[in-house]
Amino acid sequence: MSARRPDAGASPAERAAVLRTEIEQHNVRYYIHDDPSISDADYDALMRELADIETEHPELVTPESPTQRVGAAPLSEFGSVRHAVPMLSLGNAFQPDDVAAFDKRVTDTLRGAGLLGPEAQAAYFCELKLDGLAISLRYEDGRLVQAATRGDGQTGEDVTANIRTIRSIPLRLRDGAPKVLEVRGEVLMNRADFERLNQAQAARGEKVFVNPRNAAAGSLRQLDPRITAKRPLRFYAYSWGEVHGLPRGVADRYDEPAPGVRDASTLPRDHHGAMLDWLAELGLPVNERHNHRAEGAQGLLAFYERVGQIRASLPYDIDGVVYKVDSLPAQRVLGFVARAPRFALAHKFPAEEASTELLDIEVQVGRTGAITPVARLKPVFVGGVTVTNATLHNEGEIERKDVRVGDTVIVRRAGDVIPEVVGPVLEKRSGELPPLFKVPSHCPVCGSAIERLEDEVIARCTGGLFCAAQRKQTLLHAAGRKALDVEGLGEKVVDQLVDSGRVKSLADIYGLRAPELAALERMGRKSAENLVQAIDRAREPTLGRLLFALGIRHVGETTARDVARHFGSIEAVMDATEEALLAVPDVGPVVAGSIHRFFAEPHNREIVAQLREKGVNPVAEAQPQQNTALSGKTFVLTGTMPNWTREEASMYIQAAGGKVSGSVSKKTAYVVAGEDAGSKLKKAQELGIAILDEDGLKKLLGTA
Ligand code: IVH
Repeated sequence: MSARRPDAGASPAERAAVLRTEIEQHNVRYYIHDDPSISDADYDALMRELADIETEHPELVTPESPTQRVGAAPLSEFGSVRHAVPMLSLGNAFQPDDVAAFDKRVTDTLRGAGLLGPEAQAAYFCELKLDGLAISLRYEDGRLVQAATRGDGQTGEDVTANIRTIRSIPLRLRDGAPKVLEVRGEVLMNRADFERLNQAQAARGEKVFVNPRNAAAGSLRQLDPRITAKRPLRFYAYSWGEVHGLPRGVADRYDEPAPGVRDASTLPRDHHGAMLDWLAELGLPVNERHNHRAEGAQGLLAFYERVGQIRASLPYDIDGVVYKVDSLPAQRVLGFVARAPRFALAHKFPAEEASTELLDIEVQVGRTGAITPVARLKPVFVGGVTVTNATLHNEGEIERKDVRVGDTVIVRRAGDVIPEVVGPVLEKRSGELPPLFKVPSHCPVCGSAIERLEDEVIARCTGGLFCAAQRKQTLLHAAGRKALDVEGLGEKVVDQLVDSGRVKSLADIYGLRAPELAALERMGRKSAENLVQAIDRAREPTLGRLLFALGIRHVGETTARDVARHFGSIEAVMDATEEALLAVPDVGPVVAGSIHRFFAEPHNREIVAQLREKGVNPVAEAQPQQNTALSGKTFVLTGTMPNWTREEASMYIQAAGGKVSGSVSKKTAYVVAGEDAGSKLKKAQELGIAILDEDGLKKLLGTA
């Protein structure tokens, strides 16, 4: 007998029913809304209790029981499934012109058919193009009876046992389900889940996946559903196939079947967006947060732009957006070409991954001596630019990924992130394998020993500022926009100045004259003069910028500014004890220790003295503005604003004395909400917190 039976009065059958309902509710919260209300351990306890009851009373096991998601017996092979309604593909657009042409075709056709007025614009439903695998789920009488891959569009593979293990997919639909409902959507893996899976795979010495899409596909193709059950797969519905036998009173009647629906003359709703609402009402996961209605080509392109901006912050990969004519009767009039609908279009983003040849691996020495192996690549167009170098992170990563010179490799460039080598394409390997890359024992630039401390992944050149590479990186850091902001002092110039020995330290920069600069390669008279002016301007940096420019470990721009405000002069910072440094708000022992050690080094004090000699005279940091409308008030930013990014808005708020926080609480003074604002906006409304849009924020800042 099971020891835990909280409700002694309930029969095992009753208790099992209660547990099933409760577990499915937790599944919905966890997998659909990403908002669990109980801990994993409590969830496991509920599952165990249910499993115990079912072990004791096998007659109580139902196919829909949450315990049955784990997959019972291994599949021998995948059977094939003929799709009742074919699974189509989409026409692709890569340019704004393609989108304009699509909208024109749609508009002309609908006007010709009298479905759109002469001035009216076509209405579209816009979605993310999820980068996973298309799947069709077949429900009969509300029960999941079959799941199939797309295959060639007509016939796919039967992956029912594996699909049943995906917890966001309901095994039973809610009340109001038709006799037959085929739901189409995408199975995918979130990036964070993918990283975690790969780490676990690597730790067990098992195959690591190249990207979330491959991991999702590989997981779904497992012959043993028990393995699939352990993989963090998700599903989002975006379309439907056969729909048949709606309960009375649910249907909007049509004269003719809607597109894609062969044998039913009815669908419950007459717009694509409303159909998705209906699927959500039946308990299916729909990507509601980002779906959006738009009109005309301009509306579509605005959606594309907006999604492009938030793409990197999505939890999963997308490869574009999809536009669908919203009205189903209009879709029917537009019809199909070949195997794609005329009423929908996929607008692709530049691919973030591409394959190319790894020509060589070189090492780069960073500002702090960190050794980074860099891949020299056959040029490849990826993420919208041509890439010739990509980071390989460190020796451990190269070994983990098993990347070797001569391999065909996958290169990834997402957003503004530094391009990286994801891994080799093993199928392309032939012949003898070259050895794995090893970090050299001595720095290729200065010849000093390279060391790797125990417990550290990064190897470092021990040459310090004796190493020309470290010197160059130190100068580039100091010249950077957030530091001394010397425009024109880039890599090419710094390389020449350091290599010729003209510049040995930061102070030497301040002695540069226009004629000697004009003599450098790729430098004209005009740019030389501009550079000298930029250097002159950098003689009076704020104290915070100067501190940041010195490149003290653990001292970012914000810390540098806080320290500057607290001490008021560079001499005071140089002579501060660790204790005195700890008195600065937000400075802890690590930062205090690092600053103290830095200025305990005679050569670092010498650099400051040299700068002083060259006339560098830091000015006091402005104190934060007091008593403005924003001072001391906490703001939370959510959603996408029309003009400002969240980073920009934060900067303005902080400059005016306000604070920016990530979560809404009673202490929040204002929530600034843009488009697609989600739970934070809702919470603000519940708490009765003032809500602003971008214009409202600008008014408050006095910049409107
Ligand atoms: S609709 C008739 N919507 O893109 C339209 N497809 O090239 C059928 N996809 O195989 C597809 N996100 O795997 C549609 N929001 C979305 C989508 C989407 C991703 C994939 C799907 C399909 C391919 C079409």
